Amino acid sequence: MLTTPLCDLFGIDVPIILAPMGTCTSAELAAAVSNAGGLGGIGTLFRSFAAIKRDIDLAKTLTQRPFAINHIPQTLDAEAFRYTLAARPAVISFTLADPGDLTRAAHDAGARVMVQVTTVDQALQAAESGADVIIAQGGESGGYCGEVSTMTLVPQVVDAVSPIPVVASGGIFDGRGIAAALILGAVGVNLGTRFIASKEAPAPLQWKEAIVVAKSEDAIKAEVLNDITPLPGTAGFKTVLRSLPTDFLTEWSAKRDEARRQRDRLRSQIVSTTQAGRQHECLLTAGQTAGGISEILPVGEIMRKLIAEAEAALTKMQWRGEQAPHSRPKLMPEAHSSPSLAALQEVPEPDSLGG
Ligand SMILES: Cc1cc2nc3c(=O)[nH]c(=O)nc-3n(C[C@H](O)[C@H](O)[C@H](O)COP(=O)(O)O)c2cc1C
Repeated sequence: MLTTPLCDLFGIDVPIILAPMGTCTSAELAAAVSNAGGLGGIGTLFRSFAAIKRDIDLAKTLTQRPFAINHIPQTLDAEAFRYTLAARPAVISFTLADPGDLTRAAHDAGARVMVQVTTVDQALQAAESGADVIIAQGGESGGYCGEVSTMTLVPQVVDAVSPIPVVASGGIFDGRGIAAALILGAVGVNLGTRFIASKEAPAPLQWKEAIVVAKSEDAIKAEVLNDITPLPGTAGFKTVLRSLPTDFLTEWSAKRDEARRQRDRLRSQIVSTTQAGRQHECLLTAGQTAGGISEILPVGEIMRKLIAEAEAALTKMQWRGEQAPHSRPKLMPEAHSSPSLAALQEVPEPDSLGG
């Protein structure tokens, strides 16, 4: 089985985390990922307290496994945060800003704290605040994201905050991506877009199908959304939402001054279409991973594929390592069993893999 120290820390079987995706959150989706051995996540961004409460209560009945609840510090819903603390989830995560004192409150409630960051400086700040796990989120991500790519960011964050465990996010849609993240020094992955295109995701079919047909280059940064809804993008870590194009985004991206003037009306349009289950008319939030996703599948099947592909990729690395004579004694004697992080750490240095 694909295990890393993150599994022990969170009490999960495999180091795969469902990103807590604001309006694409449901107890059913979170429970499906947790029941498949990963860490389900419930998002709170742009959601009512009633909807958040429903998901927290329902998730507890749908799974006995650990799950996470996410909060965005600069748009914090105090009532939802209090309810989160009382629910005592295994993990409370924060995104898009330094959580500050919220970290202590989460720890006092018995939760592990996970903070998603987009730069090395933010990672150091999160480490200072007492984060137990740091997610290094690359700029290719869906949702609000920064500039630095996952490939560039993850190893730098790993070095900067060691020994705090680091999870990679952004650009990962299959098991090869998971293997690559582990090679970069991460102990797990946080996936969003891959799970939107799942049977269980509470997204309109049009959103899921748009992901299936999209190319990576279709997922663009929608700067105009920060004109319409300045929070959370313009505060905290200063991020921009990545989305597939919609007529709404195309129209208003071409007249951003006017979008700022009509901010209230446009925000109401986004809210009302979302509440009516037609969010895709305004936003099709997705990462560059959309280009690699070609099927809408049940969560259980997605998880099985991710794990099998990651194990195959890691096993292949070990096999290649065996070709390098000086590295042979360092490999596991039974090199064909499932890779663990310990085994992974024994993979020879890159310059000995070339043969
Ligand atoms: C629709 C959508 C909504 C998101 N909302 C949140 C959120 O509320 N909180 C959060 O921590 N991350 C959120 N994210 C970002 C994810 O945590 C993660 O970094 C991202 O999905 C990784 O890129 P990928 O979607 O290509 O896998 C969201 C992502 C998507 C696609």
